[in-house]
Amino acid sequence: MSLIQLSAVSHTFSTATGQLPVLDSLSLSIEEGQFTAVVGPSGCGKSTLTRLIAGLLIPDAGEVWLHGERVVSPRSTVGMAFQNPVLLEWRSILKNVMLPLEIVSGSMPIKQQEERARFLLSLVGLDGFEDKRPSELSGGMRQRASLCRSLVHKPDVVILDEPFGALDAFTREDLWQTMHTLREQEPFTALLITHDLRESVFLADEVIVLSGRPAHAQHVLKVDMPAKRTLEDLYSPKATEMLAELRKQIQVAQGNTVSVAS
Ligand SMILES: Nc1ncnc2c1ncn2[C@@H]1O[C@H](COP(=O)(O)OP(=O)(O)OP(=O)(O)O)[C@@H](O)[C@H]1O
Ligand SMILES: [Mg+2]
Repeated sequence: MSLIQLSAVSHTFSTATGQLPVLDSLSLSIEEGQFTAVVGPSGCGKSTLTRLIAGLLIPDAGEVWLHGERVVSPRSTVGMAFQNPVLLEWRSILKNVMLPLEIVSGSMPIKQQEERARFLLSLVGLDGFEDKRPSELSGGMRQRASLCRSLVHKPDVVILDEPFGALDAFTREDLWQTMHTLREQEPFTALLITHDLRESVFLADEVIVLSGRPAHAQHVLKVDMPAKRTLEDLYSPKATEMLAELRKQIQVAQGNTVSVAS
């Protein structure tokens, strides 16, 4: 069985103005160590999908499985990072990164917790900033710290919901490369939600395009590029072709009349 498996998941929200079907028979699977990106129109249900995998929401129909267990409640073995890094201002950067270790593995000696957090902070180039407060860091640096925090307890899967969306283009590209560095040092399974098609192709092994709401998996693109990528690879004919295919799929998902080549 895959590490993450969603089988025919459907979900409808009850809102003040009526029922809102958000996911419709969505099936997908993610293998251990795989980096999967999910793209789709705004409001199609991408964040809802992350909440289902994290066990923060139980679907009306269908099943969500993680590591061979049915997900029916919140999971501490899921790491999460969002567009807003949400670091705690009253804790140092080091203590912010250590937080999941304090919550999840209370038995790990404090010295080891610190070593683990320092190791990740050095991988993302934040050595020397361990004792600073979040407000003393730039937006990109805060997001680096947030990525460390999401990985510190070696979760089964790290869910990244548009973590680079609020950053300027150069900082964003810098962080893409940081993601590759982190993965090289310590492979992990990731589900990245993004609106940036270049980001999806640069980072992922596979890109899932969700249809318009209620969403299902409309298209799956295997990213046919070497695991180690440089930004120049995004201008290769292969990458250009994949980006064009994704763009077309997004237009279809948005209800555009562009037809899809089979
Ligand atoms: N708790 C909730 N109650 C009612 N409706 C909700 C709830 N959460 C999400 N929705 C609705 O479900 C739909 C999907 O929301 P979701 O946040 O999953 O979209 P998204 O694909 O992440 O969008 P975006 O790309 O803008 O972040 C939206 O129309 C939203 O208004
Ligand atoms: Mg969202």
